[in-house]
Amino acid sequence: MQLNNPELLKNASFINGQWLTSETVFEVENPANGQIVGTVSEVTPGQLEMAVNSAYAACEVWQSKTVDERAVILKSWNDLIRDNQQDLAQIMTAEQGKPIHEAIGEVAYGASYIEWYAEEGRRIKGSVLPNNQQGRRALVQQTPVGVVSAITPWNFPGAMLLRKASAALAAGCTFIVKPSELTPFSALALAELSLQAGIPPGVFNVVIGSNAQPIGEVLTLHPKVAKFSFTGSTAVGKKLLSQCASTVKKTSMELGGNAPFIIFEDADIDKALDGLMRSKFRNAGQTCVSANRIFVHQSLHDELVERLRLMVSELTIGDGQDETTQIGPLINLKAVEKVEKLVAQAVTSGAKLVLGGEKIKNSGYFYQPTILTGVKPFMDIFNQEIFAPVASIIAFEQEDQVIQLANQTNYGLCSYAYTNNANRIWRLSEKLAFGMVGINEGVLSNALAPFGGIKESGMGREGGHWGIEEYLETRYVCIGNVE
Ligand code: SIN
Repeated sequence: MQLNNPELLKNASFINGQWLTSETVFEVENPANGQIVGTVSEVTPGQLEMAVNSAYAACEVWQSKTVDERAVILKSWNDLIRDNQQDLAQIMTAEQGKPIHEAIGEVAYGASYIEWYAEEGRRIKGSVLPNNQQGRRALVQQTPVGVVSAITPWNFPGAMLLRKASAALAAGCTFIVKPSELTPFSALALAELSLQAGIPPGVFNVVIGSNAQPIGEVLTLHPKVAKFSFTGSTAVGKKLLSQCASTVKKTSMELGGNAPFIIFEDADIDKALDGLMRSKFRNAGQTCVSANRIFVHQSLHDELVERLRLMVSELTIGDGQDETTQIGPLINLKAVEKVEKLVAQAVTSGAKLVLGGEKIKNSGYFYQPTILTGVKPFMDIFNQEIFAPVASIIAFEQEDQVIQLANQTNYGLCSYAYTNNANRIWRLSEKLAFGMVGINEGVLSNALAPFGGIKESGMGREGGHWGIEEYLETRYVCIGNVE
């Protein structure tokens, strides 16, 4: 990697403003070629305890600053991230595999949350209630919860971390994050910039480890941690949630999805295809909000499949470092094996393979962009999160039928529909059982809007004023005997 600022490449946990190494290290692999991006020190149990204690002690320092002082520091972090956008993107592509233009976009997307929350911190407010008794005054305050711990995923190694940390820090909380062991370098580069931005020691900490379980236990069980925030799979989220119960921590869970993408007979097919390509193939399909089940009205089915086939067959697959790449590798061998199994099971059960369907046999974890038609609700590919560049298509005839099929999942993160019927748009916005509904739009997330799911896709929201509320307590103060 040729970085303009080699200082960004760190290889140890960042705790209380210091880089702490240990005797045990692990390797991080580039999924595009299997080469080692670098080695990182494993956090030790003592260092982990130190992270919690220093975050706990730093609450006082951070909360004693005015909101203006906190905003200035956060804005400086945002500026530094934007100044180092190219380097941060290179690091991200090397460890995660996504095309460099997507990584550049992710850096800006992540920074946009800091920019937004730096200001939103100024808008935290309480209230004074009207008196309902003589001599009494009642106040409501919004106060920071305290130490926040988080576990962030490998699919968006920068943005998912910044989406949580920016809101937590703006609320006056301190933060400890364990990034995925597959993509630790992006988080460590952000930590280096937090130091340069003047975030005080202990306010922002990054702990690194290849074994998530013991670290996750400290982050979810420790009594000094007040709030836990997770982005990852529903299965892991359920376990972490149950661990948080022992100390009744506040939690935010951004878990898996199984997004329906519905194209009605009155849709603008050009726009629907454009939205579908962006939703389905961003990050090689490795997003929680990726179109997982594509429902196409019977009358458009054949035309849409053929046009999609032409578009998908033109996608450039390769190492994300190459500027022309549109589809990078999957994250690891396990991800390739999972999608191979899902596609094989669908085809054996009657789905038709229109395009792709094979792993690409060079170094790295590549899977061909794939189109399947004739997918049925009993197939695993209908019910599981695919997390790969596989477009799984189901024909439908009636609106009621497709809404019922779309909602036939325990997930409830994101859904999409393309239609030009205004009444139908209202019906869909009310009947699709998902935390987010995109109408004639394939990519919804931004710093102003509440990102999050219902049902087994999680709880809590990230973005907008909803995001900062996750890090605040409501406190009622009653003053009696006022003369
Ligand atoms: C995710 O896949 O978890 C995040 C996607 C986004 O922020 O758009």
